[in-house]
Amino acid sequence: MPQKRTVYLDYSASTPTDPRIVEAMMPYFTEVFGNASSAHAFGRKAENAIETARETVAKIFNCKSKEIIFTSGGSESDNLALRGAAWASKQKNGANHLITTPIEHSAVSKTMAQLAEVMDFDLTILPVDEAGLISLKNLEAAITEQTSVVSIIYANNEVGTVNPMPEIGKTTKKHNILFHTDAVQAAGQLSLDVEELGVDMMSISGHKFYGPKGVGVLFVREGVELIPSQSGGSHEHGIRAGTHNTPFIVGLAKALELAYEERDERLAHVTKLRDMLVDGITARIPQAHLTGHPEQRLPSHASFVFDDMDANKLLIHMDMRGVAASSASACKTGNPEPSGTLLALGYKREDAFGGLRLTVSHHTSEEDIAYAIDVIVESAETVYKLQKTLAK
Ligand SMILES: Cc1ncc(COP(=O)(O)O)c(C=O)c1O
Repeated sequence: MPQKRTVYLDYSASTPTDPRIVEAMMPYFTEVFGNASSAHAFGRKAENAIETARETVAKIFNCKSKEIIFTSGGSESDNLALRGAAWASKQKNGANHLITTPIEHSAVSKTMAQLAEVMDFDLTILPVDEAGLISLKNLEAAITEQTSVVSIIYANNEVGTVNPMPEIGKTTKKHNILFHTDAVQAAGQLSLDVEELGVDMMSISGHKFYGPKGVGVLFVREGVELIPSQSGGSHEHGIRAGTHNTPFIVGLAKALELAYEERDERLAHVTKLRDMLVDGITARIPQAHLTGHPEQRLPSHASFVFDDMDANKLLIHMDMRGVAASSASACKTGNPEPSGTLLALGYKREDAFGGLRLTVSHHTSEEDIAYAIDVIVESAETVYKLQKTLAK
C-alpha cells in the first residue's frame, strides 16, 4: 500500500503549538524581554504578563492565583509536588508513608521510588483493576497514621482511563492527607476545577494542549507546605527558583484558555474520531482488543493490545505508510521492555509488548482516520505474516 497521506496520531505525546499561541508569545521574546523580578519598567511589564497568565490559569482551576506555580513542565511539577510535600510533612511531624499507583507516569513513579530508596520513606503501590481504576476500599485500607501524600494519576497516559478524582479527594480529606494528581493528560479535556476534584496539588504541562513545550503548572493549595527541590531566588513564592520564562508562561495560559473556550467543539470532534478508531480496528482485526476503561476514558484516546505482537514492529510498518502513533513498551535500547501499565492491569508479560496508543486531535479529519485504519490493518497483517515466517 503506497503512502497516501501523513497522519499524526500521537497527540498524547505532544501537540503542535497553535499559531494563535505563537503569536501571543512573540512580543515576550523581543519587546517585553525584561526580567520579571527586576524593579524597573521593563521588569514590571514582564511581571504583569506573568500575573495575568497566573490569573487566567487560576480561573480555570477555580483557585486563587497565589496557588499557581509555574514550572518547566509536567515532570518538574510532579517532582516538586511529591518531594516538596513528602519532605515538608516528614520535617513537620515525622510522617513517612506515601501512596501511589502502578500506572503513574515515570515522573511520579520514579520520584516516589527515589523517596523510598534514598530517603527511607515507606511506599504503598495500590493495585488497579483490569481497566486501570483504583479502588477506594484499597485506598482506605492503605492509609496509616504515618501517611502524608497520596499521588494518583487523573487520566492515564497509556490506556486513557480516568480515575474518580472527587471520591479519592473526599477520602484523603477525611484522613487529612495531601492529595496530588498528575493531570497532564487530562488538561484541555477534563475539568481542572480543584474544588470539584478535591486535590491539594495538581500538575499540568503546556505542550499537551497546543501550548509550548518546557512549561508547566503546579497547583499548590494555600496552606500546603513544600520544601523546594530547586533553591535559589525567591521566585514563585520561594517554592521554585529561576528567572521566569515569560513567553512560555504567556503561551501556556493562552493555550489553556483556548482549550477550555473551545472545549465542547473539540471534544465532540475527537470523541467521534476515537470511536471510529475503536470500532474500525476491533471490527477488522480480531487480535486487537481495547485497553483501559470502555467509558471512563479520555475523549481523544484509543488504546489496544494486539495478541502475539511486538507493537514496536507494528509502529515501524505504520510509520513507513505515514501513520505516527506510539506503543506502550519502551524500545529505545533495541531491547523492548513490556509495558508496566499493561502488566499492572493484569496482562501477561507476552501481551504487554502488544500495546498500541492512538490519540487524536481537533486537527484530525475523518479521512485521516479512515486511512489510518487501513494502514493499521495492513501493517498488522504484514507483521503477523513476518512473525509466522520467522517462527518456521
Ligand atoms: C501523565 C504524564 N505526566 C507527566 C508527563 C511529563 O510532562 P513533561 O513532558 O511536560 O515533562 C507526561 C508526558 O508525557 C505525561 O503524559
